[in-house]
Amino acid sequence: MHEPDQTAPEAPDRLRVAVVGTGNIARFHVEALQSMPESASLVAAVDVDPDNLALFTDRYGIPQRYGDLDRMLCEVRPDLVHLCTPPGMHHGQVLACLRSGASAVVEKPPALSLAEMEEMAAAEGPIGQGPWVATVFQHRFGSGARRVRALAESGELGRPLVAVCHTHWFRDQAYFDVPWRGRWDTEGGGPTMGHGIHQMDLLLALLGDWTEVSATARRQARVMETEDVSIGHICFANGAVAAVVNSVLSPREESYIRIDFERATVELRHLYGYGDDDWTITPAPGFEERVKAAWEAGESGVNSGHAAQVAHVLSALRAKEAPPVSATDALRTMRLVAGIYASAAQHRTVTVGELRRGTRYYERMHGGGSPW
Ligand SMILES: NC(=O)c1ccc[n+]([C@@H]2O[C@H](COP(=O)([O-])OP(=O)(O)OC[C@H]3O[C@@H](n4cnc5c(N)ncnc54)[C@H](O)[C@@H]3O)[C@@H](O)[C@H]2O)c1
Repeated sequence: MHEPDQTAPEAPDRLRVAVVGTGNIARFHVEALQSMPESASLVAAVDVDPDNLALFTDRYGIPQRYGDLDRMLCEVRPDLVHLCTPPGMHHGQVLACLRSGASAVVEKPPALSLAEMEEMAAAEGPIGQGPWVATVFQHRFGSGARRVRALAESGELGRPLVAVCHTHWFRDQAYFDVPWRGRWDTEGGGPTMGHGIHQMDLLLALLGDWTEVSATARRQARVMETEDVSIGHICFANGAVAAVVNSVLSPREESYIRIDFERATVELRHLYGYGDDDWTITPAPGFEERVKAAWEAGESGVNSGHAAQVAHVLSALRAKEAPPVSATDALRTMRLVAGIYASAAQHRTVTVGELRRGTRYYERMHGGGSPW
């Protein structure tokens, strides 16, 4: 399937990038990369489905096509590989990239278990040298989230006290009839792992380490193996508490985060991506002018989305810095997913420290049984 490159020689200072998996999400990666031609050159694409691959490479003018990742890694030797394959492929493909010396950007969820995540982290090169793996959690990178994070870290908003984190999405039965979706062995979970993980990752990026979770998960309406809804109560190391909902059953769709700090309520309402106007801030009495001034002085103008994160990935790779979002960052979010499943299945509160090597919910998100 390999076709020789007929294009002009590549500029030596650009990163040579390959994309693996040419389905739905791959176009967001490729369009982001092609909007940064001074930093990256798309040299190859890989897919096991030759029709998907041909359509995609023709559409985006990608010069080399492969049906096999290992062969592409060996012949093309890219600097960076974007993994846009189904979740069950991620762990093995990340390891293959790292072993070949290529860094990887992997779509969420980055792996099917905490065990797989830690194996991926252990396969990274030394800090500053790489290769490394970055997980796609694109909502950390809009200017609104970066502004809230900067204000929270500076203490300008006071202590975070109580938060809400809702993913109310709608996916019909046909969506789950795709073979890899809604199954423990191929997707690693339902909306907790596959959908709400975006909002929960953003919540953790804003509130920091979590300590314990108490959750319920159910399969209410879809024919699938995993849950179609979960709810959880989460305690944070800084004392904040949060209520989380992850649903694919909600006809009026919305992604919503609200954090009540001592000096202001911060809210985000969107669906699959946000801009600055999707954030609102309501100062507490007595803090109106101070909070408003700090808010207006913050970062602005960047929508959340793949392009925002890819820009950070390329500059981190060129500068030999740690990846945005690192395996350690992603592991914290994956631990929360595992904690929700462990709590829901066992009908009890689960602490973050329990989810360690050798335990059921470390090895597999559903603990190896049939949880509900
Ligand atoms: N970040 C986001 O907002 C977001 C949104 C949607 C999906 N995703 C994630 O992106 C990933 C892909 O989802 P999708 O909807 O694009 O899936 P998809 O099924 O549309 O595309 C997957 C592609 O991978 C190919 N493929 C399968 N096995 C392969 C292999 N071994 N080697 C090479 N190619 C292989 C398939 O042929 C297909 O073309 C999933 O992990 C999903 O959760 C992320």
